[in-house]
Amino acid sequence: MRQTGIDAGGLENVVAAETRLSDVDGAGGHLVIAGADVETLAETASFEEVTARLFAAADPAGAETTAQVAAGMGRGRAIAFAEVSGLRAALAAPDAMTALRGAVAQERDPMAAELVGAVAVYVAAYARLHAGLSPIAPDPRAPHVEDFHRMMFGRTPSTAEVAALSAYLVTVSDHGMNASTFAARVVASTASDRVSAITAAIGALKGPLHGGAPGPVLDMLDAIGSAERAEAWLTAELDAGRRIMGMGHRVYRVRDPRAAVFEKALQRFGQTTDRLALARAVERTAERLLAERHPDRPLRANVEFYTAVLLEALGIDRSLFTAIFAVGRVAGWCAHVAEQQRSGRLIRPSSRYVGAPVV
Ligand code: COA
Repeated sequence: MRQTGIDAGGLENVVAAETRLSDVDGAGGHLVIAGADVETLAETASFEEVTARLFAAADPAGAETTAQVAAGMGRGRAIAFAEVSGLRAALAAPDAMTALRGAVAQERDPMAAELVGAVAVYVAAYARLHAGLSPIAPDPRAPHVEDFHRMMFGRTPSTAEVAALSAYLVTVSDHGMNASTFAARVVASTASDRVSAITAAIGALKGPLHGGAPGPVLDMLDAIGSAERAEAWLTAELDAGRRIMGMGHRVYRVRDPRAAVFEKALQRFGQTTDRLALARAVERTAERLLAERHPDRPLRANVEFYTAVLLEALGIDRSLFTAIFAVGRVAGWCAHVAEQQRSGRLIRPSSRYVGAPVV
């Protein structure tokens, strides 16, 4: 029988830190980020505002206004862009997360807001270079999300595009003690520097069990093609012992509240009716089949299921999805690093030896 909790090595239900940054209610399906519901933030707050809230919650004494944080991000975008030509080798990596990890690793002691700005530049530059195009310079005074979109696509985005991308980035800005955040906090707890902590977080997010599902979700929707084929396709996958991407979550035992936020953002964006209908049908079928196979373990849609549909509607290539997630999550990572550094406590758990006895 499968072990649970600490015996399974997954640290389920282990409280590793006290945080003011976000609260994930896995049973009720609620997510609070820096004192506000994610649903409210996604509809009303800018990415700069949410980042400022997170930073202020992590370090109230050093709190900056949204305008100051926005200026820091703009400065970070400008500084990072000046580095891009020297980073061609790192940015030529075969995948976006390896490129991002390499580019961020060479950052020289940026402020938190500057690092948030830099990540957007590196992801946009990677996207352009891999499409055979030249990277586009940022406008440090422009709103972060609008500037990020323009650096990727080379045109001024519509209000609807900015709203949809902003809702996405705000929603993924923080999410409790997920694997990448924990990785960042472990590194920060050794009194190492911010860049090392964020580089570790990027490495954790790169893994398919954490941030890598949205691309495969689209591959799945493509392979299924139409709602009536969903059951046969999903059954074959499960029979082959494969996981359904975008389903299941370590903490949520109900539907991930972020899935609903993205569904709503998609409806407002109004671009993908057929795709959205197919996604809903596949979700319903997957939920039913998983419930039959795991009656004691609710496996529902997670954030990445509708991330895939939303980012695709925005015209973003699936190879960039995890890196775009990092563009939002870096705000939370930096806030957690600050919070951990303030605590001043080394994270150093124990292990239980189950190896060969001394003979
Ligand atoms: N498809 C099929 N089966 C799944 C599943 C999925 N998406 N997610 C979990 N299961 C099954 C496991 O195979 C396991 O079955 P078993 O007990 O017979 O071995 C059981 O459900 C419990 O899984 P477990 O690995 O203990 O859950 P977890 O908390 O470690 O997993 C995830 C959480 C997210 C890693 C897992 O649900 C998953 O791999 N999902 C797909 C990848 C994904 O969408 N990742 C993005 C997360 S935001």
